[in-house]
Amino acid sequence: MMTRTLIKDTVGKVGEEVILKGWVHVRRDMGKIIFIDLRDATGLIQIVFASKDKDFMVEANKLRSEFVVAITGKVNARPEKMVNPKLATGTVEIEAKKLEILNEAKTIPFEIDKDTAPVSEELRLKYRYLDLRSERMRKNILLRSQMLNEIKNFLHERDFVEIETPYITKGTPEGAREYIVPSRLHAGKFYVLPQSPQQFKQLLMVAGFEKYFQIARCFRDEDQRGDRQPEFTQIDMEMSFVEQEDVMKLTEEMMISLAGKVAPEKKIQKIPFPILTYDEAKKKYNTDKPDLRKDKNDPNELAFCWVVDFPLFEWSESEKKLVSSHHPFTMPHKDDLEDLEEHPLDVRAYAYDLVLNGYEVGGGSIRVNDKNLQSKIFRLLGVSKDDAEARFGHILEAFTYGAPPHGGIAPGLDRLAMLFAGEPNIREVMAFPKTSDARDLMMGAPSELPENQLKEAHIKMVEK
Ligand code: AMO
Repeated sequence: MMTRTLIKDTVGKVGEEVILKGWVHVRRDMGKIIFIDLRDATGLIQIVFASKDKDFMVEANKLRSEFVVAITGKVNARPEKMVNPKLATGTVEIEAKKLEILNEAKTIPFEIDKDTAPVSEELRLKYRYLDLRSERMRKNILLRSQMLNEIKNFLHERDFVEIETPYITKGTPEGAREYIVPSRLHAGKFYVLPQSPQQFKQLLMVAGFEKYFQIARCFRDEDQRGDRQPEFTQIDMEMSFVEQEDVMKLTEEMMISLAGKVAPEKKIQKIPFPILTYDEAKKKYNTDKPDLRKDKNDPNELAFCWVVDFPLFEWSESEKKLVSSHHPFTMPHKDDLEDLEEHPLDVRAYAYDLVLNGYEVGGGSIRVNDKNLQSKIFRLLGVSKDDAEARFGHILEAFTYGAPPHGGIAPGLDRLAMLFAGEPNIREVMAFPKTSDARDLMMGAPSELPENQLKEAHIKMVEK
């Protein structure tokens, strides 16, 4: 049995016979000669069917776009004038000798040998597995994979421990609505999907790991936008015995290293990244995520900046109470501690956002590690003592068993990938994103469930 050759490896095999396997990308007929571009995961190559064998040509004539084939043929160097500089394999072509159709394909609902950006997004999402065959989408997914690899290497090299935390758990507030999961074994009780691993990573610091990271899926039932999805990925990090500057420095090094490796054509506008206070950013740019690019038309400009000194609380008009600007586990600034009770809105937090080209690509803080201070913050947020005990008793108790000072950050992988890829929204860098109204058009989610399944989960539907 001859082993399969990958398309990218054909260039070095001139004169040899190879077996290629893949998809018919396009077909062009030139009189008695049939050309196809064959595609596999590694690229495209031109195949020439120009045999005197009639039966063979009849077989070749059956080929249509997206048929899956195995082709045996000889790698020939193309004459100088026929070299295609646009193709990585443009110096060679395959003279087909044998053809096996492994699977046929219906006419696909949209063209994937061209950029699919102009195609209706509904259609692209319904047939995402076809959309992902297109070059740009494939590149985006590969970029994301490379980013994940670089990030993991970067953090492992610095002795971070990669730890997975539960997805079926109890709520952890990040300011969004939660997805709830009914319990079958415990009637009337619910799990919720985490908005972030926030409490787990803090508890891992209490557990003594000191440096944690996780490529973590987060779930938030909130209104969608171009840079928001109901489930998305964070590069979630936490460290013990650190201050704000340590977390910022490490994150900055990670971003510089990452950009250099996965997007070398891009230029970071300013290193070290400029640092603005929240007040400065608001005053000067009227936003807490300023776009500091010098030339907004330059696709290769990466303008990172830090925004620090966020207020600890904001006033929610709708709820008529204080809410956390970041999350309730954030440490108040030591110089403002005495204002906590009397003027809570004047208290700054050790909280920092990483901003890139006008998008918030990461947020973090130094955490409270003291039970009394954490209880006080819950009280100021209007959480009753009983409620705090029921919802957060575990973490309050953990703080009484030697909780080290700790802090962290969570860069958003999807937004970073979007900006590195130069895409207008995060759906373009996610394999299977949801629509703006949180549907999965390919799988058909959300969907109704059979009566018996609902019954098992102790769910009764009410008529509207
Ligand atoms: P925060 O809520 O700021 O912090 O989230 C961190 C980063 O996650 C990304 N992000 C999103 N990306 C896509 N879709 C969404 N719906 C979405 N929501 C957030 C953003 C954001 O900057 N636990 C804290 C982190 C910490 O304190 O360490 C947290 O989740 O890029």
